[in-house]
Amino acid sequence: MRITVTEILKKKEKKEKIVMLTAYDYSFSHIVDAAGVDIILVGDSMANVVLGMASTTEISLDEMINHSKAVVKGSEYAMVIGDMPYCAYQTNPDDAVECARRFINEAGCQAVKLEWFDRALDVTAQIVRDNIPVMGHIGFTPQTADKLGDTIVQGKDLDGARQLIQQAQSLEDTGCFSLVLECVPWQIAKIISETLSIPTIGIGAGAFCDGQVLVLNDMLGLFKRYKPRFVKIYEDLFEHALAGLRRYAEEVRSGTFPSIQESFSMKEEEFKKLNKSL
Ligand code: KIV
Repeated sequence: MRITVTEILKKKEKKEKIVMLTAYDYSFSHIVDAAGVDIILVGDSMANVVLGMASTTEISLDEMINHSKAVVKGSEYAMVIGDMPYCAYQTNPDDAVECARRFINEAGCQAVKLEWFDRALDVTAQIVRDNIPVMGHIGFTPQTADKLGDTIVQGKDLDGARQLIQQAQSLEDTGCFSLVLECVPWQIAKIISETLSIPTIGIGAGAFCDGQVLVLNDMLGLFKRYKPRFVKIYEDLFEHALAGLRRYAEEVRSGTFPSIQESFSMKEEEFKKLNKSL
């Protein structure tokens, strides 16, 4: 039984923190789900950490749908949210509902997430009207990072802070069931979290959000291209994997792998017959 939107909303009422992580494939989705994580986001951060792209705007809707399918297959408990890629709603907002529907009908996701942009409210309203739960995303929005100026952290001055508070309120009013706050001063995140009735999920937004999210490959030390300040590495899988892979290479080169244990053998009498026939 997967966790529902109603249960996510109840967690805020009961002041229970919501745990969210990204995942992009079957195997990791299975581990994340087994850890009891409430929400798995198939984030478009997959563009960077899985596909090695320079920008999240490069990823296609088909890539997001295929990986979302795998994540749904790998999990049983968590709510799976498909992250709408740039091309699914920002280049042609009129196609947004159809694209969101693919995450639900084809991939089996329970909701979609979309980043703030100038038509975010209009697009959110259309998707919500189609009965698809929507998670909003404000603050640092990687898909439109070029429009945000030089600083990553958003809302550091009065105007910026007021704008974020207003965006948050209008997304709740439009029908979002939850909201990601990315790279926002903790004071603003606290005000927004206390003001809204829907849960806020922080990433680089301090401790007062109703839940937290991290990119899985960051927190497991798998992505080494850059490390944002808000990332905490809980386990360095890169180092563990490297040690295992080096041992494998050594054993292949020295002939100690595979041993008889990892080999298949023929029946003795069949082998004798074979030898005679050669
Ligand atoms: O794509 C992603 O991983 C995200 C999270 C950082 C919230 O949007």
